[in-house]
Amino acid sequence: MAEIIDGKAVAAEIVAKVTAHAASIAGTVVPGLATILVGEDPASQVYVASKSRMAKECGFHSVQHTLPREITQAELLALVDRLNNDPAIHGILVQLPLPDHIDSGAVIQAISPDKDVDGFHFINVGKLGTGEIDSAFVPCTPAGCMLLIDRVRGRDLSGLSAVVVGRSNIVGKPMANLLLAANATVTIAHSRTANLPEVVRQADIVVAAVGRPQMIKGDWIKPGATVIDVGINRIPAPEKGEGKTRLVGDVDFNSASKVAGAITPVPGGVGPMTIAMLMANTLTAACRAAG
Ligand code: GUN
Repeated sequence: MAEIIDGKAVAAEIVAKVTAHAASIAGTVVPGLATILVGEDPASQVYVASKSRMAKECGFHSVQHTLPREITQAELLALVDRLNNDPAIHGILVQLPLPDHIDSGAVIQAISPDKDVDGFHFINVGKLGTGEIDSAFVPCTPAGCMLLIDRVRGRDLSGLSAVVVGRSNIVGKPMANLLLAANATVTIAHSRTANLPEVVRQADIVVAAVGRPQMIKGDWIKPGATVIDVGINRIPAPEKGEGKTRLVGDVDFNSASKVAGAITPVPGGVGPMTIAMLMANTLTAACRAAG
């Protein structure tokens, strides 16, 4: 059986460090995080509420802006502009996805790169892609995945092959860049990849971020591989009662955990790390602003 990587515990360690650091600089600067939620998507509501709550628990100044679905792009851009110019705010997070009538790209690029704690602005994407990682904001989920991989494999992944399944801007692409910066030999696979099971089977490190429940099976996994499951999918769970659901990852945990060397559970793996890294990025933004 694989080692279960306890993301909840690692995230708690990071949050404790961030909280202590924030307390130590409270006389100079109080990190400020503004979250923006547009509309009433239930999953987004849960994510944003936990980000705002965690920011408060870290001792940050935390402001949540909840806007109706009908808000115009101009109104949203005006709010972003106001937050860009608010000295009490060091990090701005616009929860995605946004409603279809809003151009997400335009909103993300309107966020000051210095307050872009999601790491989605072209400046931060470019820095990550060119290896300027120390001065970039790195997207929270892939940054959290790297810390979990570090726990199992160490920081230097020389000689190891990594397969990232999924090519999103939020996870897949930045994940591939981080693995490359750590000297792994990286493949990005996705829904159009031929012989996907065979490709995944080459990997010493698998990062699954496709958004398809339990797609990656145990017989796709190289024995001893490190498996990082980014997926959060809600599926029916009739065994829990009629109409009940449960969360599963993109990896079929039961079969994969019999083959892998180490694997993240869902929930309790990558999810808590994403929020912890957002706190770390917000603290970094505040420290940079305070000089
Ligand atoms: N939606 C899903 N993941 C994320 C994330 O990491 N940041 C934001 N802003 N929205 C998301």
